[in-house]
Amino acid sequence: DAKEVLTIGGKNFKTHPEYTNVTPSIINHVGKSLHVKPNHPVNILRDLIEKKLSSVDNAFTTYNKFDPVVSTFQNFDSLGFPADHPGRSKSDTYYVNDKTLLRTHTSAHEMECYSKVGETGKPGFLISADVYRRDEIDKTHYPVFHQMEGCRVWNGRSIPQIKADLKVLQKKLDEHEMNLVVEDESLSNPPDVNPKQSYMTDEEVDLVSQHLKRSLELVISEVFTQRIKSMRAENPNADIPTELKFRWVNAYFPWTAPSWEIEVWWNNDWLEICGCGIVQQQVLLNAGYKENSAISWAFGLGLDRIAMLLFEIPDIRLLWSEDPRFISQFKDGHINTFKPYSKYPGSTRDVAFWLPDETKENPEVHENDIMEIVRDSAGSLVESVKLVDRFTNPKTNKKSLCYRIHYQSMDRNITNDEVNKIQKQVETRLVDKYNVTLR
Ligand code: PHE
Repeated sequence: DAKEVLTIGGKNFKTHPEYTNVTPSIINHVGKSLHVKPNHPVNILRDLIEKKLSSVDNAFTTYNKFDPVVSTFQNFDSLGFPADHPGRSKSDTYYVNDKTLLRTHTSAHEMECYSKVGETGKPGFLISADVYRRDEIDKTHYPVFHQMEGCRVWNGRSIPQIKADLKVLQKKLDEHEMNLVVEDESLSNPPDVNPKQSYMTDEEVDLVSQHLKRSLELVISEVFTQRIKSMRAENPNADIPTELKFRWVNAYFPWTAPSWEIEVWWNNDWLEICGCGIVQQQVLLNAGYKENSAISWAFGLGLDRIAMLLFEIPDIRLLWSEDPRFISQFKDGHINTFKPYSKYPGSTRDVAFWLPDETKENPEVHENDIMEIVRDSAGSLVESVKLVDRFTNPKTNKKSLCYRIHYQSMDRNITNDEVNKIQKQVETRLVDKYNVTLR
């Protein structure tokens, strides 16, 4: 039943028998572009960050309209992903065919934008876009989300220039009343997993890292200052803390070294919001820069989760809601607390099955494959899917799994009949595709 041609965002693409795994419910999200949708929380946040970063020294060109269908070269090879990197696997990525996919991150456009820095006349750029990843299903995960990529390059690697830029940035940061507290200084030391690149001097790495870190601290300070302001306006007598704990955690990305992740302490947990680092020279060479001629940092911020905490939106699916009770609550340029309205009733179903013995005909079932079947059958009617039981029969060694699916719509009532039909389809597809035996 596989189609030979898929239409995505008005363009046609040939499918591939082994690679194509993008589904109609995912394709439906292409073009929704919440990051530029007027009065939408993701748009409000994107605008806030763009304005703040540009207010420092007007150094960024913004790109917000790149097409989500990109080549494997753009998404992986241009960034130096090794051939066996797990990010390339079909269980994590939506492939259109063997050479084309839905971008998994905004870094897919780095090379192209680096090559345009000369003509724009600005030493930096910001790219915001929808990105796609096969993933679990719950309140903070959705297969489509939004990122902002930020890059800043010093062509010529002038130390006085980097120092001057850093000074301007530091001044802007000092204007904030938000008190950022670095939780664990030891985590921020250069890691041995991704040491500095050999063409760079220690001083350069130190200065460019500082510029990167101060830039992101500025973004975080701005976002949380806005949050505090709105909390104060809504609740003048409350005692609202102005301190924010955050930490730099050493990380690894194929196209940056050294690299970090930022986590902020929010609601009693560390929340990962950003990956970043000093860009591997190979990316710059791919973009047409001359050997040893430039140094650059890059970051990739997840916009949806930050928007959720900024507006207190409890479920990531709400961001996709067209219910006027949701979308009428927000206004461009304003941060306010989301007011929950009564949820439509939900419905829970279990699906339990025996896995077949693994053979060539019965490939291993990845959890994301199960998520995908539920997602494709239920669309946005699924709130969460959780593994609730795993069991191995000691005699036969057969494995059994039980998943609990919670169905609930953000926008309307769903009937029992409707849920039963979807559940039936999930079961049938599991049997047809993975040869499981329902219990
Ligand atoms: N693209 C990375 C991600 O999606 C984030 C990142 C961007 C890391 C730029 C380093 C530099 O996780």
